[in-house]
Amino acid sequence: MLEYYSRIIERFIDVPSGVDLEDFVMQCIAAIHPPTYVLSHMEGQISECLCYHLLRTEPERFIGFPGCDSVEDVLAKKDEILHFTYHATLCHDFGKINIIDTIFVYGRKLLDMEFNIIRSHPVMGAELLAAHQGTRTYADVARGHHRWHNDKGGYPEDFITANSPYKIILDLALCADCMDAATDMVGRSYNKGKTLHDYINELKEGAGTRYAAWLPELLERKEVYEDLEYMLTQGRADIYRNTYKLLRSVQEKA
Ligand SMILES: [Fe+2]
Ligand SMILES: [Fe+2]
Repeated sequence: MLEYYSRIIERFIDVPSGVDLEDFVMQCIAAIHPPTYVLSHMEGQISECLCYHLLRTEPERFIGFPGCDSVEDVLAKKDEILHFTYHATLCHDFGKINIIDTIFVYGRKLLDMEFNIIRSHPVMGAELLAAHQGTRTYADVARGHHRWHNDKGGYPEDFITANSPYKIILDLALCADCMDAATDMVGRSYNKGKTLHDYINELKEGAGTRYAAWLPELLERKEVYEDLEYMLTQGRADIYRNTYKLLRSVQEKA
């Protein structure tokens, strides 16, 4: 079964010529499952916001990012780091293109086999991203976005985030992913929607194990908290509205 699913993604290896993989897969996701399109944008924006604030106050955390051996390097590359963070997080769930029917099972518990299929999406996404020039460097963020910060939990178990030059971006992407999932009341079938305050408490419980230890302090800074509150309310509503408009315009053209 898993082999059958992994073959689906091969269809995306040959994207039409002149089309960028990132745009192509995003459009496919919009057509197949709009809530996943929305959450990809949400998580990309949340990650970028966290990255922006962290770069301003603690640029030393980005030492180790490719080409960054010092704080001076980080500051010189800060636009590149922000761009990378947004796009890598936008693409982190591309492996879901294989498993959308499985993830959105309503009204019954998932079977073990279905859980295994879901757990395959980071690796499948990473393989797809690695197969294309424009997205190759995003592969680690896809592969490691369900791994714990301390590499002692999550999946895939054989991926060690501490060895990745994109470790800091993984810390941000994991936080963005979990924050969006915890606070979303529309696109997910498995929760009731928590507040940002509730999510920060969750973050504190996992700080140093599941999450990077410095994350709660970053999120509790007034300017960061306010930006996030806006993104999780007005920002998310805007993304849903824009997605609706996009799908309407495609329908009208057809
Ligand atoms: Fe995921
Ligand atoms: Fe995600």
